[in-house]
Amino acid sequence: MIKEFIEKIPKAELHIHLEGSIEPEMLLTLAERNKLRLKYNTIDEVKGAYKFKDLRDFLYIYTQGTRVLKKAEDFYDITKAYLSKVYSQNVLHAEIFIDFQTYSKRGIASEMIMDGVVSAIKGAKSDLGISTYLILAFLRHLGAKEAMKTLQEGLKYKDKIIGVGLASTELGFPPELFEEVFEEARKAGFKTTAHAGEEGPAEYVRNSIDILKVDRVDHGNRAMDDPELVKDIVKKQIPLTLCPLSNIALGNVKSLESHTLKKKLDMGMLVSVNSDDPAYFGGYVNENLIAVQKALALDAIDIVKLAKNSFVSSFLPKEKKEYFLDLINAAEL
Ligand code: HPA
Ligand code: ZN
Repeated sequence: MIKEFIEKIPKAELHIHLEGSIEPEMLLTLAERNKLRLKYNTIDEVKGAYKFKDLRDFLYIYTQGTRVLKKAEDFYDITKAYLSKVYSQNVLHAEIFIDFQTYSKRGIASEMIMDGVVSAIKGAKSDLGISTYLILAFLRHLGAKEAMKTLQEGLKYKDKIIGVGLASTELGFPPELFEEVFEEARKAGFKTTAHAGEEGPAEYVRNSIDILKVDRVDHGNRAMDDPELVKDIVKKQIPLTLCPLSNIALGNVKSLESHTLKKKLDMGMLVSVNSDDPAYFGGYVNENLIAVQKALALDAIDIVKLAKNSFVSSFLPKEKKEYFLDLINAAEL
């Protein structure tokens, strides 16, 4: 059964926003613990509100959800819940986007966030063996100056954060606005990634690669509109972290059957499957893989390739990548 094959195969998740993993039950628990009034009282009411017109509409609801996070233990609990969940799906390595900017406005210091998140990561490493990296996301709608300040804040945790990324509303906030920030980040030794071509045009993918010089692109769907860019992405083997269920939930792709994932795979693009915001978009990595397998008739060879790509596209050092690739080769599936 291909479903069991998908569930069992060792894999990495590279595109997940920590706050996007807060399940409705957790949301209600944290709201109660922090004495916060929400618009919803039941899990069904929360779920009912998770219908989005587009990325902007989603980000509004998602940001409302982040209000339940107030203390280090809240960040600890959501990180622990995410890592335990994905470990049960045979995710052996995760690279998680964290965000300081949403919280600094509310007087929540980065120290508190990092305190909770890092202790959950350490616990999951020792209890489960799962390895985790953190990527600090800049919220592009807040502009380059704020991103630069956030980078300075991130430098305090240089030993705990592997890289930086560009997230939030894409349209109207092109990558080139952040050229200086990314140059500084690269100089400081951070890996880099940027959301591009999720709702924005191929040009945003092109400029993320050429101007921001990113190591990887998040989504990158719309790169397909520019054949020269596609050739370049294949030649340079720039990883694209695809998030199929996210694309459907946000209306960026019409149907899973028309998703270009299989086309990209067949063209030799280094694509992986990720969840983006699993609590909001209908599933974690395995649900995403199972859905695209069905819609695009992927076979076991495609699934192995996607799983291998997830490690190859990661920010892990070469020897760790090889270790995980060997695990896949040796796995009895
Ligand atoms: N796109 C951009 N920014 C985000 C997303 C997304 O899907 N989720 C959380 N922040
Ligand atoms: Zn994302």
